Amino acid sequence: MKFDVLTLFPEMFEPIKQSIIGRAEQKGKIEISLINIRDFSKNKHKKVDDYPYGGGSGMVIAPDVVYESYMSIKDKEKAKVIYLTPKGSTLTQNKVKSLSKENHLILLCGHYEGIDERVLEEIVDEEISIGDYVLTGGEIPAMVLIDTISRYIDGVLNESSTTEESFSNDLLEYPQYTRPEVFLDKKVPDVLLSGHHENIKKWRQEKALEQTKLKRPDLLK
Ligand code: ADE
Repeated sequence: MKFDVLTLFPEMFEPIKQSIIGRAEQKGKIEISLINIRDFSKNKHKKVDDYPYGGGSGMVIAPDVVYESYMSIKDKEKAKVIYLTPKGSTLTQNKVKSLSKENHLILLCGHYEGIDERVLEEIVDEEISIGDYVLTGGEIPAMVLIDTISRYIDGVLNESSTTEESFSNDLLEYPQYTRPEVFLDKKVPDVLLSGHHENIKKWRQEKALEQTKLKRPDLLK
């Protein structure tokens, strides 16, 4: 999977160079390219934004710098362009799964009051929000997309990690335990020490249902 990220703040992407996603990139399972929109400013002060027509607070990112940065991407015709915005449709695990089947995603990060509508109409295929709240920009949402999608790319995780996790069958995951057997007077449930695989499976299914009823009853509807 190739991710091209159009952003004014490429330095913000340092965290996804760590841990599982960092290793996935080193192993060549995913490729993340950061494209600085500011590099495409023709202004001598590298200005990328301007006052909104019609007035109002804040600044709007100009269409030309976004368009030129998009045009600099190789093989963009086959890629899906996603604009991260609170106006988009809310990201779900099913959406993540279907996006993981693409080969090339271009992630456009907004900032300030947004991006001139005309360039969005021209290049964006889909708008995605990571939840009903407003962040200062699209960089953290873009990292959320890269992280969640990469987990479904072959060779990034071991397979059972995504088949048994929360949301994979509209249920939250069952509780997990590791050594020691007793911690603060709390003992690991006996069934998990029994070695009886059928009973363990049944217990886990019951617990997954119980956790979902308790914490996220909306998922059962
Ligand atoms: N930019 C600002 N807030 C956002 C959100 N909730 N989702 C995606 N992009 C955003």
